Amino acid sequence: MLRAIALEKEYEGPRGKLHILRGVNLELNKGDMMFIIGRSGAGKSTLLHLLGGLDRPTAGTVEFRGEDLSLLNEESLAKYRNKRVGFVFQFYHLLPELTVRENVELPSLIAGKRRTKRSEDLLKRVGLWERRDHLQSELSGGEQQRAAIARALINEPELVFCDEPTGNLDDETAESIHRLIFDLNREGQTFCVVTHEESFARKGNRILRLHEGVVDVVKH
Ligand SMILES: Nc1ncnc2c1ncn2[C@@H]1O[C@H](COP(=O)(O)OP(=O)(O)OP(=O)(O)O)[C@@H](O)[C@H]1O
Ligand SMILES: [Mg+2]
Repeated sequence: MLRAIALEKEYEGPRGKLHILRGVNLELNKGDMMFIIGRSGAGKSTLLHLLGGLDRPTAGTVEFRGEDLSLLNEESLAKYRNKRVGFVFQFYHLLPELTVRENVELPSLIAGKRRTKRSEDLLKRVGLWERRDHLQSELSGGEQQRAAIARALINEPELVFCDEPTGNLDDETAESIHRLIFDLNREGQTFCVVTHEESFARKGNRILRLHEGVVDVVKH
């Protein structure tokens, strides 16, 4: 489904160049629950942003279903981010002035058609149907992350990226989000998750460790 070939990323800092990714190769298949682990600053978020089309690599390619993302223009890349993949971040990134339901439906509006039935199904699925008219400020962290997961799924993406989805939650709440993600994976949703929580990662079918700019296979 997704392939990274010799991916490199350099940042131009005030104190010279930072060579963060130095030739990352990976392949993600349909149905995978893939984890990327690694120390803080290893480049995990950087890698996820390249795979998700949020940023462009310095060298190397990302292919989604055989299509090279670097050949897409901004409009096609925006479509890729909106329709084919979904994103869940550590700090949820819900829009504070919108209700839970409006947040969940927003990517479908952007794609051209508000999906009210699917948002209902998803809100029930993540246990937030009763809270659909609430604002972000009225939700706990775990509830906000559930809303963000529903939002990531609204356009039926083939692949969902999560960057430290439970990094900001207490253990018990994190555990309930882990369960939700694994349940969705069992139902067929493909995930690529960045985490520093090894106990979470161990349950995935594939684990990669990002270290010194390259990935080592930990599992598979
Ligand atoms: N836009 C940027 N410009 C310059 N340097 C950057 C930029 N973004 C990230 N970096 C640097 O790249 C390195 C990798 O950052 P990244 O956020 O990918 O790490 P990470 O593995 O996700 O870390 P964490 O576990 O703390 O989230 C860091 O040293 C960071 O300072
Ligand atoms: Mg990060």
